Amino acid sequence: MTDLIKIEAGTVGSEMPTKTFRLRHALSNHPLFTLDRLARFAASLPPEQVEFNGPVQPNQDPTLTPQNGLSAEETVRRIEDCQSWMVIKNCETDPEYKALLDACLDQVAAQTGGVMGSAENRQAFIFVTSPNNVVPLHMDPEYNFLLQLRGSKRMSIFDHKNSGIVSEEQLELYPGKHRNLLYQEDFEAVGTQQHIEPGDSIFVPLFDPHWVQNGPEVSVSFSITWHTAHSLRMVKLSYVNAWLRRIGMPQAHVGTYPVIDTIKVAAYDVARFGYDLVKRLLGSRKRAVALVFGGDVTAAT
Ligand SMILES: [Fe+2]
Repeated sequence: MTDLIKIEAGTVGSEMPTKTFRLRHALSNHPLFTLDRLARFAASLPPEQVEFNGPVQPNQDPTLTPQNGLSAEETVRRIEDCQSWMVIKNCETDPEYKALLDACLDQVAAQTGGVMGSAENRQAFIFVTSPNNVVPLHMDPEYNFLLQLRGSKRMSIFDHKNSGIVSEEQLELYPGKHRNLLYQEDFEAVGTQQHIEPGDSIFVPLFDPHWVQNGPEVSVSFSITWHTAHSLRMVKLSYVNAWLRRIGMPQAHVGTYPVIDTIKVAAYDVARFGYDLVKRLLGSRKRAVALVFGGDVTAAT
């Protein structure tokens, strides 16, 4: 098989998968990532799989995110000038992108000494960004390799265990929560800054906050994400702890009481089964979130 991902010897330390590191890839000229192909792909998908907006700041209030007045396809075709940011979500629903995702993750797993396990819950995202645009500070509840295909980016990454950057409460997850986090320029002193060009890739650890400044050209990036049994457990505990906090019962750090953590994970699995059943019956994630968790249906994304 063609070498798609290459990790230099000695790059990945024993901290994997908790510390960022760089790797190389060979996807920059892949035909699945031309702007014409991406415009047709975006146009073929349901609206919930394509998110895009106008220019934003690192510390962006999500309620004030500007729209660009274009369709998804127009946004890609005019990305040079429309000052926009787009993500195509769950690209693995398309068999060609799914095959590429699997090939990349299988290759990187083979080079990282088994720490990725079987790389479960694989998902792929494509980011198409105008020159000089910004992705505000946020964190993602999965492990991620960001592969830079076109243009350049500067990414600042912060340790999610640093409470001076983000509190435990800010990291907790609940349905409908917007991903943006509060940003201050003095965070940079304790962050890791990475400049990436076509052929470069960065590993982004689970929950680590990061923001991205695009270079002076159109940028296209391929994000390949996965879970291990550990990360799935952490995500479930995050949801349960957020729910307990919302009913007035903030919790100790994950790992303080392992038996209680295990009970929480079991409770999550039962609740998730019920939620998925409600979602199927109502035929809509937004309606299910509103019914089970309350609040404004439109807030659930
Ligand atoms: Fe991200």
